[in-house]
Amino acid sequence: MKEIINVELKTRTVDLSTCKTDVLAVGAFCDAKEPDKLSRELDDKLDGAISRLIKLGDFNGKDGTSAVVYGNERIRAKRVLLIGLGEKKKATLDTVRRAAASAAKKSVESKAQTLSLALHKAFGARFDLSAMGQACGEGTYFGSYRYDEFVTENEDGRLGALDVELIDPDPAKTQKLKHGLSSGIIIGKAQSYARTLANRPANVVHPAELAAAAKELARGSKRLSCTVLDEGQMAAKGMGGVLAVGSGSQSKPRFIVLKYNPPAKVPATRPKVALVGKAITFDSGGISIKPAANMEEMKLDKSGGTTVLATMKAVAELGLPVNVLGIVPAAENMPSGTSYRPGDILNTFSGKSVEVQNTDAEGRMILCDALSYAVKQDCDVIIDIATLTGACVVALGKYMAGLMGNDDGLARQLQKAAESSGEKVWPMPSGEEYAKEMKSKIADLKNIGSKWGGACTAAAFLGQFVGDKKWAHLDIAGVWSFDKPTEFAAEGASGFGVRLLTAYLTNLTNPKSK
Ligand code: BES
Ligand code: MN
Ligand code: ZN
Repeated sequence: MKEIINVELKTRTVDLSTCKTDVLAVGAFCDAKEPDKLSRELDDKLDGAISRLIKLGDFNGKDGTSAVVYGNERIRAKRVLLIGLGEKKKATLDTVRRAAASAAKKSVESKAQTLSLALHKAFGARFDLSAMGQACGEGTYFGSYRYDEFVTENEDGRLGALDVELIDPDPAKTQKLKHGLSSGIIIGKAQSYARTLANRPANVVHPAELAAAAKELARGSKRLSCTVLDEGQMAAKGMGGVLAVGSGSQSKPRFIVLKYNPPAKVPATRPKVALVGKAITFDSGGISIKPAANMEEMKLDKSGGTTVLATMKAVAELGLPVNVLGIVPAAENMPSGTSYRPGDILNTFSGKSVEVQNTDAEGRMILCDALSYAVKQDCDVIIDIATLTGACVVALGKYMAGLMGNDDGLARQLQKAAESSGEKVWPMPSGEEYAKEMKSKIADLKNIGSKWGGACTAAAFLGQFVGDKKWAHLDIAGVWSFDKPTEFAAEGASGFGVRLLTAYLTNLTNPKSK
């Protein structure tokens, strides 16, 4: 895939004041009693420009704020960019990540060609340098990202490249930063890949195109192999859910499987993991058609699937010693004379029948087949990720994904991965009461529940298809996008889940994190 902006990242051992760069980014907390050694040094060289700025109240270190001081002949950076880090005691690795993201975003906006990050300095020994290197890598890609591949002319004259370096005067420290940075680059790039694939409109990315993208990933990596089932092959297997949802569209559905072959033998104690991602390339609602307002956003209804593809890409490049399978059922939900209808009863891959009461509850109809596929592949752990319900957005808003499932241990592991990755999850229920609502009078299940608790009944429906496997469900309907640009993110797809799932899989390889 074409890089929308080409970002190169490396480390360099250099003194801050002698570092020649367009932008030198340093962080500052709002509650630091006095400026740290680093800012004092810079301030001296800048003839007190930083302290004047602070005295004037133009910068206070609060979260989400920033300020620029221009360099002079005693400092080789053209600009010193101060990034507010908020309260010191509240700092997490995500503070580092977001600071790098805002520095990168501001650099792109000011058409800088080089950016030097010394953000880790403010955190002292609070976090491991390698972990901060990774967070800076992820954040740099996140913040510099924007989606404009169809804009013929870059009206703002944006440069197509940004060279970024993590700097420290101490070679031992740069070495540690570098270690984490190499993972950060892989994960950051994978997340940008997910965002671009999700942002592409439905006339460009239809199910076959998504399958082609998965094949392309497998072609580019000796550790990934890709199998795609077309309509005929799905029919032979009895995948009635995916087929029904895709039946109204000219673009036929696909069932995409990416298998990761780890470079070394994986310890037998490690679970075989299936990542299942919902990929509705456009959700019009089908015969139960959606209202027109904001319907264009429904091109993003493939975000779970694109996150799974991107995570598989990251896992392969990291060479993680884990067994993992990526499963992406892909279909377009459209109204037509061939569409599935409310009232239809379908036979799913599991053998269970489902009465369709609303064709807009299509995500669960494709996921149920994919979950059964994971069960039949004998995966020990199944994690699905899906833009599943508007009800989840009502419940949690746009900052956290809903986390449901049948295993407390797995949920805890995902919560832990959420902490380090900064992709937040919040537990929601999905037990028996909710499952009861999904019983049909004329089939085994129906595809909608009552008016209330839609995220929970949707999850309870999915829970009927995982057998006795450990299972977690991430509803990313709220976190799938940014409605408008923020100080660290561009508008559009968020790529949510790439960092979270990669962190979860990485933690599996670390015995300490059990
Ligand atoms: N893709 C939507 C869910 C969605 C809504 C994602 C808003 C992001 C933002 C899903 O397929 C859907 O339409 N769900 C219905 C379910 C209902 C018919 C039971 C919903 O949430 O309204
Ligand atoms: Mn829908
Ligand atoms: Zn949908």
